Amino acid sequence: MDISLKVNQKTNIVLFASGGGSNVLRICQYFENNSKIQVAALFCNKSNAGVMDRVKPFGIPTFLFSKTQLESGEVLIKLKSIAPKLIVLAGFLLKLPQQIVSQFRRKIINIHPSLLPKFGGKGMYGIHVHQAVKNKGDTSTGMTIHYVDEQYDSGDIIFQKSVDIAPTDTPEDIAQKVLKLEHYYYASVIHALIEDLPYDW
Ligand code: GAR
Repeated sequence: MDISLKVNQKTNIVLFASGGGSNVLRICQYFENNSKIQVAALFCNKSNAGVMDRVKPFGIPTFLFSKTQLESGEVLIKLKSIAPKLIVLAGFLLKLPQQIVSQFRRKIINIHPSLLPKFGGKGMYGIHVHQAVKNKGDTSTGMTIHYVDEQYDSGDIIFQKSVDIAPTDTPEDIAQKVLKLEHYYYASVIHALIEDLPYDW
């Protein structure tokens, strides 16, 4: 579990993911040719996660870790060595330990596939969120980008966008609609946060 870092003068973003990594891919593409900001590393807790392959073409260092390493402080040490301006969770399904949250207060953001505070909390991830939205019969849903605090999905909201749900939409259809919003906005919001630009599009 070694990691060779890209050492230069750029502002570092670190990504955390556990799954397929379509948001990670989008973020890597967005910053690929940026002269000031770079994705410095991908942190992943699942060796077989699709996201590990997604970053290969970009030459981004990957750091595979276990829950034990996350909770023992090993991940924190690695993070400190990178000194990221922003830590971006993109489909990362473990809870970050208190020590990481407190050392990087308001420097960690997450994307959630609902309009928080609706359909958030433990167990609310991926298709479970969209199934719950469908079960409730809501006519719209959306995505939320928020700061990460010690609780699941409860930090201050940075940005939200909604999308209509048709009566015939399945949870999978809803997932596709929400993912489209995520791909469209997440990288731009990250960029705006780093550069301190307005993002009330
Ligand atoms: C995204 O929809 C993201 O919002 C969600 O997981 C998906 C990851 O997709 N995150 C959560 O549910 C967190 N509670 P991706 O791996 O293709 O980016």
